[in-house]
Amino acid sequence: MYRTHNCGELRKKDVEKKVVLSGWVKKIRNLGSLFFIDIRDYFGITQLILSKELVTKNFFLGKEFIIRVKGKVVERLSKNNNIPTGEIEILVSHIDLLNSSLSPPFTIENETDGNEEIRMIYRYLDIRRDFIKNNLITRHNLVLEIRNFLSENGFLEIETPILINYTPEGARSFVVPSRIHTDKFYALAQSPQLFKQLLMIGGIDKYFQIVKCFRDEDSRSDRQIEFTQIDCEMSFVKEHDILAFFEHFIKHIFIKMKNVQLDSFPCISYSNAVKMYGTDSPDIRFDMSFVELNDLVKNKNINFLKTQELVIGIKIIKYHNYHDKMNCFLKKIENGNFFWIKYLYDRTLLSSNQNFLNEKIINIFVKYFEALPGDLLFFSYGKKIKTREELGKIRLKIADFLKLKNSKIFKPLWIKDLPLLEWEEESKRYKAVHHPFTSPKEEDVHLLERYPKKIRSKSYDLIINGIEIGSGSIRIHNKNIQNIIFRHLGFSRKEIESRFGFFIKAFEYGVPPHGGIAFGLDRLVNLLEGNKNIKNFIAFPKNNYGKDIMINAPSILEKEKLKELHLR
Ligand code: AMO
Repeated sequence: MYRTHNCGELRKKDVEKKVVLSGWVKKIRNLGSLFFIDIRDYFGITQLILSKELVTKNFFLGKEFIIRVKGKVVERLSKNNNIPTGEIEILVSHIDLLNSSLSPPFTIENETDGNEEIRMIYRYLDIRRDFIKNNLITRHNLVLEIRNFLSENGFLEIETPILINYTPEGARSFVVPSRIHTDKFYALAQSPQLFKQLLMIGGIDKYFQIVKCFRDEDSRSDRQIEFTQIDCEMSFVKEHDILAFFEHFIKHIFIKMKNVQLDSFPCISYSNAVKMYGTDSPDIRFDMSFVELNDLVKNKNINFLKTQELVIGIKIIKYHNYHDKMNCFLKKIENGNFFWIKYLYDRTLLSSNQNFLNEKIINIFVKYFEALPGDLLFFSYGKKIKTREELGKIRLKIADFLKLKNSKIFKPLWIKDLPLLEWEEESKRYKAVHHPFTSPKEEDVHLLERYPKKIRSKSYDLIINGIEIGSGSIRIHNKNIQNIIFRHLGFSRKEIESRFGFFIKAFEYGVPPHGGIAFGLDRLVNLLEGNKNIKNFIAFPKNNYGKDIMINAPSILEKEKLKELHLR
C-alpha cells in the first residue's frame, strides 16, 4: 500500500494512529540525531520525524525524492498554524525510497527563485507549486460551474471539428498539411463559429462548448495562440435575450467563484465608448471619462485650441502632487499634444508650459470642470481618432499611478452596436469588425449597398475591468444579406462558392433567427484571480513568441516527412 492517508489529511484527532504516507521531500532539516522532513503531495504537507539512523542507513535523501513512510501520528510540541496538518507530525518507523530526483532547477515554493523561462521549461515542477496547482483547481471548478449552469439552462454541449477549412475570421489560421491530400490543407478552427450556426440550422435550440481555438497571432499577457472559449449559441433570440441571459450567467459565476454580487451591467454603444474613454474596451473601475471642450474653447475664443479638430479633458479627483512618478510622467509628455492644470491643496494653480495657457484660460477650465483643490485636469487636442486614443492610454496610465486598478473590484459593461465593417487600407477592402456572419442593425440595412462603413451591427462585447471577456452577435439569417456582406469583404462569386458554398446552401433550408457569444475561459479565470497573466491558468502555455519551450515546439521537420506531406 502506498498510503493510508494523504499528506494534507491528518489532524490532532488522528494522534496515535499508525499511518502510511507517500510524497515528495519538500524540506529536510538535520538536527544531528533527528531529521525533520516535510513531505508533500497534491493534498498538502506533513512533517515527519526520523532518527538519523533511519535516514542515513539506507540511502541518500534529497529534495524532491519520493518516499513512502510508515509511522505513528503524534502531537507536535511547537504547532505550525500556517498549514492544516500543523498540529501533528509523524514519528517514522520505516522509510522506503520510491524514486530519486535531480536537484530541482528552482525552488518549488510559492516564492520561487525561478524565472518564467526556467519554470516553463520545467513546467511539471512548476505545477508542484501551490500557486500553479491551485490555479488549475480554480480553472477546473470554474469549468464545472459553467457546465452545470449551461446544462441546467437547456444548453447542449456538442463538439465540433478542429480540422476544418481556412475561413477568414479576423485572425490568421494555422494551416495543416496532410499525407493523403496533395496540395490541400486543413486549417485549425479559430472558433466553432460556422458549426454552431449550422447546429442552429440543424434544429438544436441552445448549444455550448468549452473548446480549444487556434489563432496564428502574437501572444501577450491576455492572448495565447491556443486558448479556450466558452462558446454558446441560441435560436429564436434577439439581442436583449442574449444580453439578459449571459449577464445572469456571469453574475452566477462571480457569486459561485468569488462570492461577489455584481451590479447590473451598463450598456454603452461603441461610438460612445470611444468618445468617453478613447477605447472600445473601457475600464470603468474609475471614472475620468472624457469631456469634449470644442464648444467651450470656441465660445471663450481660446485662440490656439479653437482651431483644433478635437479638444478633450479629464478630471482626476484628489490627485496628490507628491506623486513623484506621475509628476515625472506629466513633465515628459508636456511637449506632445497635451497640457495639464494642477489645483494644489494650498489653492495654487500650476500648469504645463504651453504658451497659450495664461491665468484667464486656466481659470476657465477650472471653473468648467468644477475642480476642487487637490484635483488635476489633463487635456489632449488634435485629430479626433488619435486624440481620443492617446488620452485613453494616458487615462489608464494615470489610473496605474494612482493605483485605481483594484483587482478585487469587478466592473462589467456591454459594448454594443460595433461597426459592421471597417476599411483596411493595406488590402484595399472591407474587413468584418466582428466576423462576416454578424447581422447589421435593421435600421441600418438600407445603407448596405452604398454606405457600408456606416452600418452598425447587432454585436456586443462583454468588457470587465478593461478586458474583453466575451464577444458575440446576432447572426445573419437572410441569404441575400449574407451574400452582400461577402461581396463587401471582397469575395468573388467563385470564392464565396468555394469557401462558403456549404454554408450558403444551408441557408436554403430554413435558417432560424439565432445569435450567440463566446467568452475567453483563460481570460475569465485570470480576471477572477487578479488578472496577472493568462499563462498562470494554463497547464502548459506557450511563451510570448508562441513557443512551447518545454517540448521545443514548433520544430523543424525532416526532409522525408516534408516530402510525405508534399511540401518539398
Ligand atoms: P472572438 O474572436 O471575439 O469571437 O473571441 C471570443 C473571446 O475569446 C477570447 N479570445 C482569446 N483569449 C485568449 N487568447 C486569444 N488569442 C483570444 N482570442 C479571443 C476573448 C474574446 O472575447 N466566434 C466568435 C464569437 C461569437 O460571435 O459567438 C469569436 O470567436 O475573451
